[in-house]
Amino acid sequence: METCFKTSETERTRWFVKDRFGMFIHWGLYAIPGRGEWVKSIERLTNANYQLYFEEFNPGNFDPKTWARLAKLAGMKYAVLTAKHHDGFCLFDSKLTDYKATNTPARRDLVREFTEAFRAEGLKIGLYYSLLDWHHPHYPAYGDPYHPLRNQQPAPGEKRDFNEYLEYLHGQVAELLTQYGKIDIMWFDFSYGELTGETWKATELVTMSRSFQPHLIIDNRLGASGEQQNITTTNRPIFAGDFACPEQMIPPEGLADAQGKPYPWEACITMNDHWGYCAADHEYKSPGQIIRALVECVSKGGNLLVNVGPDSQGEIPRESMRILTEIGEWMRRNAAGIYSCGSSRLPKPEWGRYTQKGNLLYAHIYERGIGPIMLRGLNGKIKKARLLADGSEIKLERPWNAKEYQEDAFLNFPASRLPDETDTVVELELA
Ligand code: GLC
Repeated sequence: METCFKTSETERTRWFVKDRFGMFIHWGLYAIPGRGEWVKSIERLTNANYQLYFEEFNPGNFDPKTWARLAKLAGMKYAVLTAKHHDGFCLFDSKLTDYKATNTPARRDLVREFTEAFRAEGLKIGLYYSLLDWHHPHYPAYGDPYHPLRNQQPAPGEKRDFNEYLEYLHGQVAELLTQYGKIDIMWFDFSYGELTGETWKATELVTMSRSFQPHLIIDNRLGASGEQQNITTTNRPIFAGDFACPEQMIPPEGLADAQGKPYPWEACITMNDHWGYCAADHEYKSPGQIIRALVECVSKGGNLLVNVGPDSQGEIPRESMRILTEIGEWMRRNAAGIYSCGSSRLPKPEWGRYTQKGNLLYAHIYERGIGPIMLRGLNGKIKKARLLADGSEIKLERPWNAKEYQEDAFLNFPASRLPDETDTVVELELA
């Protein structure tokens, strides 16, 4: 039983560990206040305060085909959309609530349009579903650390029945997994305190999910504390997930399970400092920073999920579009050093990073340095070296003064500056 589960786990994530690069999309009513997706909690807005946004939500420029084309152009292979975020607003036409996009002036099932458009571009489909719900009448509110009503007292006679909420949560996940065709990833977010693991009826939830879509991969946020999340423990519960999802950071090394086998992971990062649209936040990372973050992840056997936060009209911010387009320019010529690649056994070189796929080793050079570029330990092991961007030869040549470095190979770089200051990739075919 145990081995059988392990095997299928590996099979499920096979595409995921090859595709490496995805788009996260945080979108909902919070795009209207434009102060990030936590606005309802941070500003402690009641349902009545927040209702304004529901009544006016009408993203006239929402065209998921343009989103999908942009993701594809950037070299992304999959996308994860917030079907429901913590505010409880559903982008999909759920039968279980009135609090949904089809009841706003938009009158559209945004999840349906998203899934159709992204699939048409050949991208894999992920749905983010918030375990927290700051709208549902039965989600714990008073005394909860995050709920907008956390500092208030229940109204006289008010009762919150968590089981009612669980039924709703399970029901909505069933809807998402039966009404929208093939879903590749379910991205649950998040567990805290007592609200973790079986409190969500997580085994039942995952079992049900896989009964609809056996190939489905899920993140690890259904069980956030202690043993349940620890990937190095054996016999993890099935809701421990198929991959780890470190947020706003890249782990110092790759992750491994109890057997020392590489464990799939995906770092998710924002482009500026917010997930949901934030009108005043222009603290964008540069395209080069994001490209290097992607290489960093791949060099450690991980994926990168980069976020966009479309505005209230349904448009991805101009800065994000520009950054993604530039990343796409680099990916168009260098993606061979990303897709299907993972970590190499070689230590991290001083001039950059290595990624590897079979006998192809990719040297991602960030620093030109002085003289030849040293490939430690690779003397006699390289058949040929080519600049990935244009296929041109890079000569492997032992300089006259390298007698002490018998183990090492040398790239005689034809210029004193790197052709691509962000990341010049040299493909090394190993013998
Ligand atoms: C956190 C935040 C959330 C965001 C997510 C992305 O859990 O609560 O707003 O969606 O991280 O990883």
